[in-house]
Amino acid sequence: MRNGEMTGRAPDFELIWNSLPNPVLMIDGQGAIVEVNGAAENFLSASQRQLAGQPLAGLAGEDSRLADLAGQVLRQNVKMAEYGVELSWPELPVRLVDLQAAPMAEGGGAVVMIHPRAIVETMDRSLSHRSAARSVTAMAQMLAHEIKNPLAGISGAAQLLQMNASDEDRELTGLIREEAERIGALVGRVEAFGEIGPGRFQPVNIHDVLDRACRSAKAGFASHLRFVQEYDPSLPPTLGDADQLMQVMLNLLKNAAEATPKVGGIITVQSAYRAGMKVATPGGRRESLPLQIVIADNGGGIPEDLQGHIFEPFVTSKSAGSGLGLALVSKIVSDHGGVISCDSQPGATRFRLLLPVASDETMPAADAEDAA
Ligand SMILES: Nc1ncnc2c1ncn2[C@@H]1O[C@H](COP(=O)(O)OP(=O)(O)OP(=O)(O)O)[C@@H](O)[C@H]1O
Ligand SMILES: [Mg+2]
Repeated sequence: MRNGEMTGRAPDFELIWNSLPNPVLMIDGQGAIVEVNGAAENFLSASQRQLAGQPLAGLAGEDSRLADLAGQVLRQNVKMAEYGVELSWPELPVRLVDLQAAPMAEGGGAVVMIHPRAIVETMDRSLSHRSAARSVTAMAQMLAHEIKNPLAGISGAAQLLQMNASDEDRELTGLIREEAERIGALVGRVEAFGEIGPGRFQPVNIHDVLDRACRSAKAGFASHLRFVQEYDPSLPPTLGDADQLMQVMLNLLKNAAEATPKVGGIITVQSAYRAGMKVATPGGRRESLPLQIVIADNGGGIPEDLQGHIFEPFVTSKSAGSGLGLALVSKIVSDHGGVISCDSQPGATRFRLLLPVASDETMPAADAEDAA
C-alpha cells in the first residue's frame, strides 16, 4: 500500500478494513464468505464469526442479485457493478443498495462492496405515497362539492346560450361545454379515487387476478403486445380484494402498454415466492411479504425527472393522462399491507409488487385502521 511506503510505517490493514464506512465482504472462489468488515457486520446484523464460511447464495437467497453478481465476478474474473438493487437478507428489511464486486488478484475469490442508499429512498418509494393518497382522498371530497355543482351551472348556461347564438359563437359555447365535460370527467376520476373503500378481504389467488388482467389487456389496450407470463405454481394466496388487485394489475399493464412500441413491445408478468422477504413499516414493524409480482416492459422507460415521483397523484408525462393510475395502485397496495417499487431505464421498466400471504398474521392496513 502506497501510504505505508510514504510514511515508512507498515499499514494496519485490519484498522483500515474496519474503518471503511461501507460494508465489504470477501468471498472465496466457491462463493463462501471469508471475511466481512465492521460496516458489513453492522449492515447485515451478524458477526464475522456467524458469517465466515457461509455460502453467500445460501444466505442472501438463490435469486439474490448480490449472490448473482458475486457469482458472475468469480466466473468471469472481471469487475462488475449493479445500481439500485433491492437487497434482501434473512430477518432484515429490503434495502436499496448499489453493489460493486471485483475479483481478487490472488486466491481466486472476490470482494463485494455494498453502498447502501438512504433507507428513506427505499421506503419512501412506496410508504410516503400512503399520505399522498390520503390527501387525494380528502381533495376528492372537496372537488366533488366545490367543482361539480358550479361546473354543471357553467355547462347548463353554455347550453342555453347555444340556442340563440350565431354560428361563430356556437363554436365557443361548444368549446365551453366540451371543456366543462373534460373537467367533469377528471373530477369523476378523482372522486372515484376517494371512493375506493377498505375492500372485501379474502384469500385471493394472484394468478387468477393476473390472468384476468392479462386477458382483458390483450383484448383491449395491449392487443399489439406480446405477453410473457412466468408463474411460480406453488404461490400461496394473498389476503385481499380481488377487484382492487385487478385494478392494480390493469393500471400497471396499461402504463406498460402505453410505454411500449407498436411493434416489438413485450410485457413480462412474473410471480415468485420469496421466503424471508421482510419490509420495515413506519412504526418499526417488520412485515413478511413473500409474494412477489413483477410487471416489466421493454418500452422507453420512465422520464428521468419523474422517477421518484410517479406514485404521487397528478404526476404524468402524458397529454391525456391524469397521473392517478399509479397513485391508486400505491394506495391499494398499501391498503393490502404490501409494497410497490419500480426501477426503470430505457428498454427496461420493472414494477415489483410485494404482498403478504393469506395465512400470515399481517393484517391489511385498512382493517387495522378500522379497528383503531
Ligand atoms: N411502464 C412505464 N413505462 C414508462 N413510464 C411509465 C410507466 N409507468 C408509469 N410511467 C410514467 O409514470 C407516469 C405516471 O403514471 P400514472 O399511471 O400514475 O399516470 P398516467 O398513466 O400518466 O395517467 P392515467 O393512469 O391517469 O391515465 C406516467 O405518465 C409515465 O410517465
Ligand atoms: Mg397510467
